[in-house]
Amino acid sequence: MYRLGVDIGGTKVNVGIIDANNQLLGTRRRYIKEIQDFTSAVRELTDELCGELGIAKEEIVSFGVGVPGTVSADGRRLLKAPNISILSETIVEELEKELSLPGILVQDSRAAAWGEYVCGGGAGAKSVVCITLGTGIGTGVVLDGKIYAGSLGSAGELGHIPVREGGRACGCGKKGCLEKYCAGGGLTITASELLGEGKTAEELFEAAKAGNEEALEAIADAVRLLGGAVVSIVNLLSPDCILFSGGLSAQEELYVNPLIEYVKEHCYTAGTLPELKRAKLLEYAPLIGAALMPVRARRTPKLSASIMCADALRLGQALDDIKGAGIQYVHCDIMDNHFVPNLMLPMEMMNRLHDYTDIPFDYHIMAENPGSIIEKLAIKAGDIISVHYESTNHLQLALSSIRDKGAGAAVAINPATPIAVLSEILPEIDMVLLMSVNPGFAGQKIVPSSFDKIRRLRTMLDEAGYEKVLIEVDGNCSFENVPKMYAAGADIFVVGTSSVFKKGLSIKEGTRQLYHTLGMETAGEAVNGGRRSNSDGCGCREGSDR
Ligand code: DX5
Ligand code: ZN
Repeated sequence: MYRLGVDIGGTKVNVGIIDANNQLLGTRRRYIKEIQDFTSAVRELTDELCGELGIAKEEIVSFGVGVPGTVSADGRRLLKAPNISILSETIVEELEKELSLPGILVQDSRAAAWGEYVCGGGAGAKSVVCITLGTGIGTGVVLDGKIYAGSLGSAGELGHIPVREGGRACGCGKKGCLEKYCAGGGLTITASELLGEGKTAEELFEAAKAGNEEALEAIADAVRLLGGAVVSIVNLLSPDCILFSGGLSAQEELYVNPLIEYVKEHCYTAGTLPELKRAKLLEYAPLIGAALMPVRARRTPKLSASIMCADALRLGQALDDIKGAGIQYVHCDIMDNHFVPNLMLPMEMMNRLHDYTDIPFDYHIMAENPGSIIEKLAIKAGDIISVHYESTNHLQLALSSIRDKGAGAAVAINPATPIAVLSEILPEIDMVLLMSVNPGFAGQKIVPSSFDKIRRLRTMLDEAGYEKVLIEVDGNCSFENVPKMYAAGADIFVVGTSSVFKKGLSIKEGTRQLYHTLGMETAGEAVNGGRRSNSDGCGCREGSDR
């Protein structure tokens, strides 16, 4: 298993492949001015690397792109990347299409911090602040094992702390920013002021090493300014590790070591100092960190046709049409007129339909005492049975009886039921059925908070280590809503009168239109950027590991 990292700098693009032990196996670079089309350039560089390393492209599972810009919180959109014109806002989707891989976008200094946290100078620390001293100052923060972007998304802009009232103009539009005095760009200005027009930061350090008093004082002044900012980080965040990276971090004797001493002397701690040192991955940190960003494999969306919406006088034909349209499940509602104010499908009729088709059944039990229903249901390979959390005091028992029957076990939750109720039974389930309407009737309008609830449920499952647990959504899965539900993290959609059984449309046409909204032409096609992962499966438990 390999991961692809892409690091976009001011002038060049670096592509690298990381193996399962987080080792960087090789890199390829291309100058931006030579790039006509970014996505094909990344594919070509990847192909070259795979050829050189003897790696099949199919062994790469995901990609991450580090960019010198602002990225949306979900890592899907580039919001701002001044002076990098080759990148569009939808660069992730374009690359997913080009590489047929799931991917993510991350701001480069955060990628660097993540790389150093996972397998660099910060490995083993709980919280890492990685300060990249390059032309400017980029700062990435990993707090308690997660990248910290801040609720406004711009956490880490250490370089733009004002340190000189009315001072040097900065690219951010302000004056007197820290990076204009303490990073490569700023120290180059200092060099030209002290040593003459055109002198560089490099030459400033050489002059200082040669004993030039003014150069020594200028560097000491920069150390104090930067040191003050780093002390603020220690006092504010109390991280256990602060790393210095970027070109300037090579100046250990005159810059990094005095900086570390300054911070140790001036910071406030309850006794234990943070680990302060030069980073380990250095220039490869953004590339490695981008590759190691957690990427949720985009699963191929599946449909579950709600048989209660089919023509009651032609159910056999409906089942044939559902199969012909490539729909993966038959959603079979079971209602007792108690738990929900509706009555649906007597057992004999359900079993007759179940036997008629080889499409797996996705039973949705909306009834009190679900256990008495579970035991009567006919089961075949791939079937799923959902039980409402709200319908029984013995949910775990119901779920284990479903699993004993060899069906996929799922818990359904109503719109008003918080996702937190699922925490104890996550090990017992293969799927969550998230009701986006109040159960019992077709043709309802979605409860607006459903999209956010899907997103929060997906995050909760992934963070708890249950990436394989699927999310099915039931209620108003319309042409307009399904793409948003999918983007939020849903995998299976109960399709009824809002789409596949929409008046005036055949099942086949409704299905085609629905897949079209997801950028797919047929049910069989993998969704853009989604690699058919066998973890898509949900249902019969034979052979499925837990
Ligand atoms: C709701 C039912 C489904 C579905 C119908 O409990 O399980 O049949 O909502 O689809 P729509 O909402 O599109 O009519
Ligand atoms: Zn349903």
